[in-house]
Amino acid sequence: MARPLVTVLPGDGIGPEVVEQAERVLRRVAPDVELVRRPIGGAALDEVGSPLPESTLAACRESDAVLLGAVGGPKWDNVQPVQLRPEIGGLLALRKGLGLSANIRPAKTYPALLAASPLKGDAGLVDLVVVRELTGGIYFGQPRERREQGRVAVDTCVYSVEEIESVAHVAFRMARQRRCLVTSVDKANVLETSRLWRETVERVAEEFPDVQLEHLLVDNCAMQLVRNPRRFDVIVTENLFGDVLSDEAAMLTGSLGMLPSASLRPNGGANPFGLYEPAHGSAPDIAGQNLANPIATILSAAMLLRLSLGRPDAADSIEKAVGRVLERGVRTRDLAADGEPYVGTAEMGNAVLREIAERG
Ligand code: IPM
Ligand code: MG
Repeated sequence: MARPLVTVLPGDGIGPEVVEQAERVLRRVAPDVELVRRPIGGAALDEVGSPLPESTLAACRESDAVLLGAVGGPKWDNVQPVQLRPEIGGLLALRKGLGLSANIRPAKTYPALLAASPLKGDAGLVDLVVVRELTGGIYFGQPRERREQGRVAVDTCVYSVEEIESVAHVAFRMARQRRCLVTSVDKANVLETSRLWRETVERVAEEFPDVQLEHLLVDNCAMQLVRNPRRFDVIVTENLFGDVLSDEAAMLTGSLGMLPSASLRPNGGANPFGLYEPAHGSAPDIAGQNLANPIATILSAAMLLRLSLGRPDAADSIEKAVGRVLERGVRTRDLAADGEPYVGTAEMGNAVLREIAERG
């Protein structure tokens, strides 16, 4: 690869703050990578009248990978039409426009953070991956509308066999690299889309006889995640269920502020193009106060290096530095126990950079 190009989309709320720390880390471990910022979300709507300007989408398409902060906030909650909302017209349109249907959300507890997990003792030592279908289902169903003088609202959930197959393949391939267990999550006792989901995943499983497949209903899965998350390896599920379960899984590791994510094209080859973003949102309540935890975004940058740029060493050095920083007891507010001191967003970035400088 010549000089890799990464488009950086800071977005709204805490997005710019956490992205800035990830950029500093990227510049340190991969100085040749070109980072170019573009507007997205509410910031882009205010600036140029669109939450996903054509030029931003074009820049993403021309780059090797994209790093995103977060979009949305109360300022834009009542924007009309809804296609102009940062979440729908910005983030969802970006995911769809780039064809990123497989969303990978690894939830792994850092031992140093075990005390921050809401689970007692070793139960909180989670190591699982949520593979979430990202460009279909109820998030993208048509019609999405109000009827009967605005008194009835409609969202539709649609899935095709092709959509289910492609995300299922991603999950089975990933399980092969891990503990060979796929848990497919649906609501097949009620939803037709879930029955199609289940049948299709069963069929894909035949290609992976070495991987064990189980099905769980989504309510049961939510419960099992709290009861015994260590039983899970790879969870594969549809868009909305994956949104909910990945927040739950993230929190089990200590904080939503720790969880990175990669959104990939399902058949992208060895170094697929991808969009990397923290699984948390724009947290407008703490935006601009140097309180946000930048680790999820820093770890997303590590995933970007490993998956899209093929630089496992650089990725390792980031992940190890984060582990050492946590072992030294450095905490942002979300990770600190009551009364424990904590550092700000930029200081956490400094701590990670210092570890990389000292130990590589
Ligand atoms: C996420 C977020 C988004 C989603 C929102 C901001 C639209 O919650 O990435 O999980 O629901 O996909
Ligand atoms: Mg979410």
